[in-house]
Amino acid sequence: MNKETVIRRVFKPGVFLLCLIPLAVIVERALFGGLGANPVEAVNRFLGDWALRILLVTLTITPLVHLGGWPVLVRFRRMVGLFAFFYAVLHVSNYVIADQFFNWGDIWADIVKRNYITVGMGVIIILTALAVTSPKAMIKKMGATRWRKLHRLAYIAGIGGVFHYWMMIKADLLLPQIHAAILAVLLGYRLYRSKIKTRSL
Ligand code: HEM
Repeated sequence: MNKETVIRRVFKPGVFLLCLIPLAVIVERALFGGLGANPVEAVNRFLGDWALRILLVTLTITPLVHLGGWPVLVRFRRMVGLFAFFYAVLHVSNYVIADQFFNWGDIWADIVKRNYITVGMGVIIILTALAVTSPKAMIKKMGATRWRKLHRLAYIAGIGGVFHYWMMIKADLLLPQIHAAILAVLLGYRLYRSKIKTRSL
């Protein structure tokens, strides 16, 4: 098998299956009673956690390509990013269906009154725009410069995701702080790169 075939037949399906593990875990917990006393909240938190983690992994791919010299990783960025969107959609669906029972009045009140929900809403809108424009054909249609500008919003989604997490936690902030620190490193790298680029123009 040549390198291209290994990527397509081994690594791509491998990464796909890896990204499905959180879904398998939560289905297993739901079926075999591992969700604790508040199953709706447990599912909501689990899916939110994985949406944010996978979003941060997506944002780590480009720095790894530059610093680690692994250009092949770019080939996985779209798939991993779409999985972040997938878990975010499941997270929001769980909130709308199992937590709010499609009570649109209450959902709207939440969006308006609770800041972390407002921010979450903004993030899901951004992720939707990125997912819809993620196929290669869209780069041609939009033009590479516009497409790249739009996809920089992934960083704003990351910032919003971390804020959403941070704002809803009332006591121990350690985990949101860890997520924020990872994001700060990724953003710092991004700014450093764009400065270097403008200097060399
Ligand atoms: C309309 C959009 C969204 C709504 C309505 C929403 C709603 C919620 C709710 C109700 C909680 C749980 C609060 C609690 O248990 O007290 C939560 C937690 C969370 N959400 Fe969202 N969310 C949205 C979007 C997102 C997105 C896009 C992400 C990630 C990219 C995300 C990541 C998280 C995380 C990490 C948590 C904390 C989980 C934990 O406590 O471990 N949410 N969200």
